[in-house]
Amino acid sequence: MIDIHSHILPNMDDGASSWGISLKMCQQAYEDGIKTIVATPHTLNGIYDNNPKSIEEKVKILNQKLKENNISLQVLPGSEVHLSADIIEKIKKQKILTLNKTNYILLEFPHTQVPLHIEEILFQIQIMGITPIFSHVERNLEFQRKPYLLANLIQKGALAQLTAASLCGGFGSNTRKFAQKLLANDLIYCIASDAHSDSKSGRNPILSKEVAEASKIIGQNAALDLVQTNPQKIIMNQGTIIS
Ligand SMILES: [Fe+2]
Repeated sequence: MIDIHSHILPNMDDGASSWGISLKMCQQAYEDGIKTIVATPHTLNGIYDNNPKSIEEKVKILNQKLKENNISLQVLPGSEVHLSADIIEKIKKQKILTLNKTNYILLEFPHTQVPLHIEEILFQIQIMGITPIFSHVERNLEFQRKPYLLANLIQKGALAQLTAASLCGGFGSNTRKFAQKLLANDLIYCIASDAHSDSKSGRNPILSKEVAEASKIIGQNAALDLVQTNPQKIIMNQGTIIS
């Protein structure tokens, strides 16, 4: 499996707080059947502003440590980009990292709302040849109230990522039900852990249990596509407007 959303790099955001925890998270992921992780520290969210160089440096160190510890897992560079006012400018100037430096960008909204003018922003990103993947859509309260907003954005070419823990009730029963509904209506492109720590309560990097949950709704093959086929296309830069 491939996990395209993980706060696995140490001391870059509210994710892993040491190299030891990063390595423990990698070991857990490996044991769960994950072979590739895209490291996606928060950026442009008003608290964290991680630049591409510092992310790539830590990815390099983590891959080296994985080798030394005989953990057969690959970590790729990326970021989770908050939808800020200067996002278009930052993409143009290559000041933010897309997922594995492809034409896919992981975009985060505020949890309570869908930003005004989102259609226009989506269009501006798309004409640069970039495909946005909206992170943890099931946890957005406005999408929960108005799912047609998400369906409309997906129809216009955006993609949606679901948090694995939501399927097992990690964010409450409303979010779980909404996650199930999104899956059943074919609105989800990939499932990722959005891991922040090595403890279950802090969202650890596990996908297999949640894939089993998704399988009950959409069948095993379709569920596996969300953690294998589609994430593979993302990290290989396939299927974008300019690939
Ligand atoms: Fe995240």
